[in-house]
Amino acid sequence: MIDVLRSASDESPVFHLRGGRLSYLFRVTKYSHLEHLHFGARVELGEEPFGSVAALAVKRPANGEGVKYHPDDTGYNLDRLPLEYSGLGKGDYRVPALETTMPDGSFVTDLRYAGHTVHDQTVPCLDGLPASVAADRPCQTLQVDLADGDLALTLYYTIFPDSNVVTRRAVLTNRSGVALRARRVMSQLIDLPDRGFDLVTFDGAWIAEAHKHVRPLAPGIYVNSSITGFSSNRHNPGVLLARRGCGEDRGEVYGFNLVYSGNHYTAVELSQRDLVRVTSGINPIGFEWTLEPGARFETPEAVLSWSDEGYNGLSANLHEFVGRHIVRGQWRDAERPVLVNNWEGTYFDFDHRRVVSMARRAAGLGAELFVLDDGWFGARNDDHAGLGDYAVNRRKLPKGLEGLAAEITGLGLKFGLWFEPEMVNRDSDLYRAHPEWAIAVPGRTPSEGRFQLILDLTRPEVRDHIMTNVSAILDAVPISYVKWDANRTFSDQFSAVTAAGELHHRYVLGLYEVLRRIFEPRPHILLESCASGGNRFDLGMLCFSPQIWASDCTDPVERLRIQGGLSHLYPQSTMGAHVTASPSAQTLRHTPLSTRFNVAAFGLLGYELDPTDLTREERRRIREQIAFYKDHRRLLQFGRLRRHDPARGDQVTWSVHEPGGEPRVIGHFQVGSRAASAPEPLPIAGLDPHRGYRVRALPQGTSLRSLGGLVSHALPVKLSGHGVPLTVLDWFRSLDDREQEYLGTGSALAWLQLDPRFDGQDTTARLVGDYGSALYLVEPA
Ligand code: GLA
Repeated sequence: MIDVLRSASDESPVFHLRGGRLSYLFRVTKYSHLEHLHFGARVELGEEPFGSVAALAVKRPANGEGVKYHPDDTGYNLDRLPLEYSGLGKGDYRVPALETTMPDGSFVTDLRYAGHTVHDQTVPCLDGLPASVAADRPCQTLQVDLADGDLALTLYYTIFPDSNVVTRRAVLTNRSGVALRARRVMSQLIDLPDRGFDLVTFDGAWIAEAHKHVRPLAPGIYVNSSITGFSSNRHNPGVLLARRGCGEDRGEVYGFNLVYSGNHYTAVELSQRDLVRVTSGINPIGFEWTLEPGARFETPEAVLSWSDEGYNGLSANLHEFVGRHIVRGQWRDAERPVLVNNWEGTYFDFDHRRVVSMARRAAGLGAELFVLDDGWFGARNDDHAGLGDYAVNRRKLPKGLEGLAAEITGLGLKFGLWFEPEMVNRDSDLYRAHPEWAIAVPGRTPSEGRFQLILDLTRPEVRDHIMTNVSAILDAVPISYVKWDANRTFSDQFSAVTAAGELHHRYVLGLYEVLRRIFEPRPHILLESCASGGNRFDLGMLCFSPQIWASDCTDPVERLRIQGGLSHLYPQSTMGAHVTASPSAQTLRHTPLSTRFNVAAFGLLGYELDPTDLTREERRRIREQIAFYKDHRRLLQFGRLRRHDPARGDQVTWSVHEPGGEPRVIGHFQVGSRAASAPEPLPIAGLDPHRGYRVRALPQGTSLRSLGGLVSHALPVKLSGHGVPLTVLDWFRSLDDREQEYLGTGSALAWLQLDPRFDGQDTTARLVGDYGSALYLVEPA
């Protein structure tokens, strides 16, 4: 609901966006600026004199220090006002939202209220930027028009009551007769009174994405941004402000994100007057946009949310929002297939026979989709050559993709294929034919990443080329799934057709156009985007691909951090999560097959290994894992995920809950083993306190080989830890983990004390070493 009230003193409008548990309030001041009043818990305004918003407003002295907006008005100083947007040059010295040349040649802007409209829907972007959709849920949009002479700025606020989210974006229009150059046009700006916030960001690197970092907000400006041309694995665009001391289930948390896949920027400033400014949008670094007379510029959409139920409360809002209003198309609510991908199993070293035998084994394990990764085209035998080419590599695949897909689908599997369409190797037919299509500065040797260059997607002929070639394969081969990869970031930014300051943003718009043209007419194809893992895990890509390959790191211990970090902002239905061989190809860490599965089960399950290289016992266990996952798939993929404040730092606990709030599956992970073990409680939140429940551990096993010489204590026979007999035995069986079953009412189970853990003596105890874990199933009795 959007209410437009009138202030009692001067009739100027007060805007109240309310819905769900939220209120967002701002008003027009006597000089027509937009003053922010409140964002957070629902505010109920009563009848006059209690209908006033004065209680919410930050108070200012009648005669304050600083630059006065109006020479005769000593009480009005923009630097002390909580604002909704701000430019340069009128006394607000905090980080601005807008920096543009003006028709008078200055940088001075003073945007003032000129009118507003309420729309009973979302208002679509016109420039090809993806944005949230209403998706049959009620939502309203407030449009506020601001102007400074011939410069107009329109702010859009859409409230999504079902997910406690407000989205914001801005459109800048040049109504003057001269060209203007905008250097910074933020999507949103908000000034919140400080309440003792921590700033939370999700940072990392290749194979270590989205690690959560928390630090107290201190005076000054903190910038979370990317200039790589991608939303990046360095800093995810999503940031949180959490009141100090907040936990997974308690405390106030604000969340900010952007529907954008390129250079993003969020500045958080704790000002000298204890206001916290958060402004976010396209990164101003390297950005300069020319607005010809009459032209407009649209910013990406920013997403703002709030909860007073801790990090989990905020995640619940964002999961609902992403699942309903960002992800779209027929895959939005559809259960995602269990896949086998050949990448970590073969890398580039495969041929038709090998792929078919892997697929045959995959089908036997219960997988539903086989994905052929990199290396099927051109001279692609390693990563030095072939990118840009689409002709199938006949040496590896003599029957072509058609012949391969026919055999794979004949096994009852769907067929999926990897592409990296935005890139080109210099050693490729495409580059030899069109070197000018690669992004590079004339006269300079371009720097390379993974031996490749980026195609200039701001050129229409490049977009057409990609569209035509990818579409032709999708139409000729029965492809149900596409993995769309992009494996380097930008350097040598130059285009013969696009101004340098517009290149990054126009590239992102070009990418969105290509994705739209290829996949909108083929809605049956499940698209999983990827960029060296999670180098472009953002809401922009999620408007096109319902899922994203979260990381090239498949070590489950690292995945606890990566998926755990991402889960603050994105639901598990967006995260590809695969079981791979041990030791990990990224960390060399040895982990149990059970833990690799137990972590991947909190995402979109796949196996990325050579299924022909598994022991018989591993195959049996994987068949059981896949069967379990399929049985609980709707819950695991679309249930409400909760993280639990750890009882101890070396443990991680996650759970998934039914819509009513009851947990059904709980994952309990041991990151580091400790001797002389203490009591070990399992937190189980959300049960009916009076009702009886049965909690049991999903049966799983420990590989005999992993026990080495200790195996003699576990089996009735004496075996060397190094001998052939153990290897042979390991092929056929593993050691069943201790059965665990617990009964109790919901209230008695809230901190369930688990059975004893092995501590050097009792071999009948739970054998949980480093990286051990279990899935607990909760069933009403
Ligand atoms: C990237 C992806 C991997 C794989 C390789 C193939 O690294 O993230 O999953 O597809 O490329 O080259």
